[in-house]
Amino acid sequence: PFDWYHEMREKRPVRYDPKREVWDVFRYTDIKTLLTDDETFSIDPRNVADYDSDEDEGLETTTMIGTDPPRHDELRGIVSDAFQKRNLNGLKSGIKKATSNILEEILHDDSGVIDIANELAQPLVISTIAELLGVPADDRERFELWSRSLVTTEETNGGTGEVIRRKRRAQREIQKYLSTILDERQKNPQNDLLSRIATAEADDQVRFSHQEALGMCFLLFHASSNTTRNLLTNFVWCFATRGLWSELKHSDRLRQTAIEEALRYRSPVQATTRVATTEVTIQGETIGAGDRLMVWLGSANRDERQFDAPETFIPDRSPNHHMGFGHGSHYCLGGSLARLEADIVLSELLDTFETIELGDATLRPTQSLCSYGVESLPVHFEP
Ligand code: HEM
Repeated sequence: PFDWYHEMREKRPVRYDPKREVWDVFRYTDIKTLLTDDETFSIDPRNVADYDSDEDEGLETTTMIGTDPPRHDELRGIVSDAFQKRNLNGLKSGIKKATSNILEEILHDDSGVIDIANELAQPLVISTIAELLGVPADDRERFELWSRSLVTTEETNGGTGEVIRRKRRAQREIQKYLSTILDERQKNPQNDLLSRIATAEADDQVRFSHQEALGMCFLLFHASSNTTRNLLTNFVWCFATRGLWSELKHSDRLRQTAIEEALRYRSPVQATTRVATTEVTIQGETIGAGDRLMVWLGSANRDERQFDAPETFIPDRSPNHHMGFGHGSHYCLGGSLARLEADIVLSELLDTFETIELGDATLRPTQSLCSYGVESLPVHFEP
């Protein structure tokens, strides 16, 4: 999409697409301004002029990602503590162990090839969210099995009806499971995120129903899985195609900046949406109340008005104020967790593999731009 973004930033930085019935916004500063103004640019789909409640699958309008402040802040406040950088330390050793276990198994099979997307990133993001929520050890196996059916990218790329059916089944099973465990944790709270969510239900200070608690769990699951999977996959792709492996081995600082650059250069979330609540003008274009906007974060991250040489991957780029995690009140809640996972996985990969090289398979992109990555990424390695 990057050539198209460039052309649009130059020629039509804000434009209406009658086919999709949506305004596209491409420039960094416009996007930053609108993501800062929740009153004019709402995230709540109910503000769309021809909003049809039948289309609403429930998740959107009852979770933090579908509500504006002040309700948004209440919902986010229930779980935000758990995502503070200092409170994520407890997850470190688990993520490290899970990564090294996966890599050890791959080393044992002697093929010399690893599919970063499906053999490493996918199982890892699933075990991390299970750990974060506090899914008990005994339930891990089935939780992770359902999750794998949910996180699959197969159906977006022409998968069969069976894949879709499997996914629906997994969704139902996981919903049933989470519902039961939330009830349990409400009666018998432990020191984990599921208990935090379950007890908020019972807390009189915040209005929070069982359905909303379930929605919160699903949101955390969905918001963290394909996004982080694609970050881990995309950065390996960026580093492997540029032969950065040995340089990265020798510098902690370079590892940090290179991960940020991958978030900018191949942002796992390329776009998000908003709704104008009143008539408003951007770049001379008048957007009507109730009109939908597509906010192209992936284009903001390549804007030459903000970044020097934006189309070049510069591993030590600094400063790098990308919007890969969004901006404003909905700024990614899991940003620190995603960075932590990325840092641990990269370190483990660098420790385990002397060199890596891209396999010759053709890379098939995942089709949704809201989840930008490839279906699989086979790389050859030398231990
Ligand atoms: C919001 C990207 C990982 C949870 C967002 C937004 C972006 C984003 C762009 C803003 C959406 C908007 O304003 O419309 C990413 C990327 C990730 C990632 C690129 C990985 C590389 C995670 C993880 C979690 C998470 C690991 C949680 C475990 C959330 C939540 C929101 C959010 C709950 C909504 C926040 C709110 O509405 O206040 N993410 N995310 N994300 N993300 Fe992430």
